[in-house]
Amino acid sequence: MKPILDACCGGKMFHTNKQNPAVLFMDIRAEGPQKLSNGATFSVAPDVIGDFTKMPFRSNTFYMVIFDPPHLRCGNKSFMFKKYGTLGAGWRETLRRGFAECFRVLRPRGTLVFKWSDSFKPLDEVLKLAPIQPVIIHKAISNSQSKRTHFAVFMKL
Ligand SMILES: C[S@@+](CC[C@H](N)C(=O)[O-])C[C@H]1O[C@@H](n2cnc3c(N)ncnc32)[C@H](O)[C@@H]1O
Repeated sequence: MKPILDACCGGKMFHTNKQNPAVLFMDIRAEGPQKLSNGATFSVAPDVIGDFTKMPFRSNTFYMVIFDPPHLRCGNKSFMFKKYGTLGAGWRETLRRGFAECFRVLRPRGTLVFKWSDSFKPLDEVLKLAPIQPVIIHKAISNSQSKRTHFAVFMKL
């Protein structure tokens, strides 16, 4: 098994190498390539189609898990939906289960990297859904809500 899992890779925008052999890319969908309304070409091309609330992996498998779930609620025809997906009405339970699954498939002393943009709900509220506290948090400062992208890093101890 590969050492790193990206549990909801989307377009792999923040990956330095979209073909990184060390990363197992998962998402609930595969799409494209397609042209977005801004003219850019976009595709979601995971290695595994899977649900982060019910991952198809054994416990204690990965050294690192990356968790960048949808962070907004939007219509399914919007540009934002195509790129980032959307949270449903039961989003708290979805994220709670997502966190629990990330920790289940992480090896002991493995690292979870969580990304969140607080355009819908603030980071502090969402971190309450994780079973443990992060080791560090980086909060972005911006006047524009949509540009407030934060990172929290956890270790499974
Ligand atoms: C914020 S985007 C990820 C963006 C990505 N990190 C990037 O760099 O482009 C969230 C992704 O989560 C996926 N997703 C939504 N619900 C999911 C689920 N239950 N299991 C797995 N992936 C899911 C969406 O399809 C979407 O591609």
